[in-house]
Amino acid sequence: MRRRFFRPPLITAGMFFLLGCCMWPWQVLLGREPAFGVIADIQYGDKQGSVSRDYRGSLSRLEQCVEVLNKQPLDFVIQLGDTIDGYATNAVASAADLDSVLSVFNRLTAPKYHVVGNHCQTAGKENLRQRLGLQSFYYTFTVPASEGWRFVVLDGNDAEYGVMSDGQLDWLRTTLAQARQTGEKVVCFCHFPLIKAAAENNHMSKPEPVLAVLDAAAPCVVAWLAGHDHAGGYAYRKGVHHITLQGLVEAPGSTSFARIGLGADRIQETGFGNEPSRELPLCTNEIPRRLSFENGRLWPDNRGVHINAHGGGILWREGVYYWYGEHKIGGKAGNEAQVGVHVYSSRDLTNWKDEGIALAVSDDPASDITKACVLERPKVLFNAKTGKYVMWFHLELKGQGYSAARSGVAVADQPTGPFTFVSSFRPDSSMARDQTLFVDDDGKAYHLYASEDNKTLHIAQLSDDYLTPGGKFIRVFEDRLMEAPAICKRDGKYYFIGSGCTGWAPNAARAAVASSIWGPWKELGNPCVGVNPANGIGPDKTFGGQSTCILPVQGKRDAFIALFDIWNPDNAIDGRYVWLPVRFTGEGFTVTWANTWDLSVFD
Ligand code: DGJ
Repeated sequence: MRRRFFRPPLITAGMFFLLGCCMWPWQVLLGREPAFGVIADIQYGDKQGSVSRDYRGSLSRLEQCVEVLNKQPLDFVIQLGDTIDGYATNAVASAADLDSVLSVFNRLTAPKYHVVGNHCQTAGKENLRQRLGLQSFYYTFTVPASEGWRFVVLDGNDAEYGVMSDGQLDWLRTTLAQARQTGEKVVCFCHFPLIKAAAENNHMSKPEPVLAVLDAAAPCVVAWLAGHDHAGGYAYRKGVHHITLQGLVEAPGSTSFARIGLGADRIQETGFGNEPSRELPLCTNEIPRRLSFENGRLWPDNRGVHINAHGGGILWREGVYYWYGEHKIGGKAGNEAQVGVHVYSSRDLTNWKDEGIALAVSDDPASDITKACVLERPKVLFNAKTGKYVMWFHLELKGQGYSAARSGVAVADQPTGPFTFVSSFRPDSSMARDQTLFVDDDGKAYHLYASEDNKTLHIAQLSDDYLTPGGKFIRVFEDRLMEAPAICKRDGKYYFIGSGCTGWAPNAARAAVASSIWGPWKELGNPCVGVNPANGIGPDKTFGGQSTCILPVQGKRDAFIALFDIWNPDNAIDGRYVWLPVRFTGEGFTVTWANTWDLSVFD
């Protein structure tokens, strides 16, 4: 991982003396930035849970966290509340569960701090105060090794559920004013996330007065770390990085916690297990960097806006990946093309720059691609012979439902466009709906599309300029109703993934393999493994998604990513993305769910 923290050279004792009067914290001088560990929503309970919410197993996962964190040089470790799930009418049993948690948590060798959540309160406030060793549930602390940093612990419940009392708000106002005066950078810890963008499902009931205090104290607060929404999340607002940690209770088979490094110019979140990693600059003109894929979440682009490139395909060209996809608008109207094909660029696949609309729909009612046509699954190739970028997409003419079943072609001189619409037609005179493109090692390109009213897939070779069908095609997966085709090539074999045909609703994915693109193709069954905890959907419905392409990762051997869309036909713009590594096994491959992962899995 790239490290950009200030690392001075090794110093001698004499130099140490000379530098003794300067303001640098000693850990910076020793070459380590201040850092702490953080864990959210342990929510242990000696009781039965569900598939994803595993109360009892949380204790052994906490043991794993403690073991890993004890190997890190850390200035402190903090837990963000809801240590226990608790029992509404049995404070004694709640307190017993709390004791179990503390017996593990207290094995941490670094100084320990606590945030109080809503579930913890079932143990009784006084019990909690005593067991956690707290005078107050809101307080502030500094640690000698993190000079220049102030840590503020808040109680998100002291007025009522998710509401801070006026007294606490006054205290926060005063604390932040002092920090601002002394030039300290402040990290706030609270059980509750403050803003919806950082926690889609659950955040503070009354965030406005807290946000007003933060805004008035700007720029001293740089981060707000919370738990509560077990799915986690991240958003940036007015100089503050809002990080919502994933809940340890929802990490069966894995774990979830983070190390937070406090650099001079950035906060480095290193996630473990389900928790993603992020690089968060402290100056406002730099963009936060994601270091992990975070499946099924909002995926902000360089402007902080959820990427709008559905049914997409990726082109790699001269060191840059280009992601083309359907630009959707909000509501059901977004299922028709109101804008066109959006394009984004990236060098690392996790951080994407908005490059605008590559192909715009037309205002001319006579155009095939007039506004409110259906324009789906755009894919782009670069033609080395003509030097042109060629886009193919599934086109349905405006007002004709899905009956036109055409392919559309557009062309551009630059990868980001603008693309000019060329023509639309039914290739080989039969229908063409869901589609993808593929270029083989010899530069020959192929078009795969659901044909014959979606019953049978066609694979057709394209002309040398990639602009028209080349004439030769085959019919595959006859009467199998395959949609959403995606293909890749590895070690001379062609691997395919597609779906069944159930509109916007998910169904089971299907895999196939062939030694020649012309077949014979052998079906291999469903390659998906695992469950998406956000919707509880497993392989029988492809984690709630549908395939759109298989992306070869450049510079890594055998590294392919399968891309899926989780459609939201009622609010099309809110469709989500699932990117998962492909693992080749025997003659086939598997695609296993991961909340969070990064490209190091291919190393
Ligand atoms: C499933 C397809 O794969 C999508 O691209 C889209 O055409 C929807 N059906 C429409 O129902």
